[in-house]
Amino acid sequence: MSLCYFFRSSIKHPLAEVKPCCEVKKLVLLDDLLPYVKLLDLSLGTIKTRLGRGDSCYLAFIEGKAVHRSWVTSTSCWVKDAKAIFKPLKNEFYIYDSYTLPRYRSQGAFTSTLIRILADYQARGSSIWIAVRNDNLPSRRAIEKVGFKKTFALSFRRVLFFKHYDFLEINKNFPETEIKERIILT
Ligand SMILES: CC(C)(COP(=O)(O)OP(=O)(O)OC[C@H]1O[C@@H](n2cnc3c(N)ncnc32)[C@H](O)[C@@H]1OP(=O)(O)O)[C@@H](O)C(=O)NCCC(=O)NCCS
Repeated sequence: MSLCYFFRSSIKHPLAEVKPCCEVKKLVLLDDLLPYVKLLDLSLGTIKTRLGRGDSCYLAFIEGKAVHRSWVTSTSCWVKDAKAIFKPLKNEFYIYDSYTLPRYRSQGAFTSTLIRILADYQARGSSIWIAVRNDNLPSRRAIEKVGFKKTFALSFRRVLFFKHYDFLEINKNFPETEIKERIILT
């Protein structure tokens, strides 16, 4: 069984009092991303597709080296850990493909990136979503620290050829109908 938590941040959830500790850049042009293809670990075609649909790439730097990537999209996205598709509604965004180089973990790169993303998107009144497996403690720590609120969980299990999904731990202020508008089960 896998259990995936969906966290949301909105202007109703002000940014927690956590300060970024490293430089974060937002990149939306292919030429600007080319020096970082190794960290991005993507083919040029995939980078072009992501940029072409309007996604933004955020990079965090420690001592001048790019050590973390996170992408932000407003389009539907496959959530591997949930085995489902997340579909942001109007004025909503979804953070995906977050990754810090192993040598640079626990130095605040992800936390600083989340702070920057929240600052950028909340300034325009948008809600931001992020999904994480329940057992990914470093990720959950950073996400909760900057003020995201757990909104619901989606469990998935496969029994023989059948897929079973359950919505769990639903925030009482978030009706299940709203979840079903955003989650497409496969
Ligand atoms: C999750 C991930 C992006 C975090 O990146 P990071 O740059 O190390 O994150 P940060 O340093 O900003 O924050 C991690 C927090 O978790 C804490 N942490 C680290 N290991 C931990 C553990 N085993 N249990 C609990 N907390 C842990 C760190 O101490 C830090 O908290 P602190 O700043 O309060 O001390 C990174 O581990 C990673 O790339 N993992 C593989 C891909 C992945 O899981 N992506 C996330 C999908 S949502």
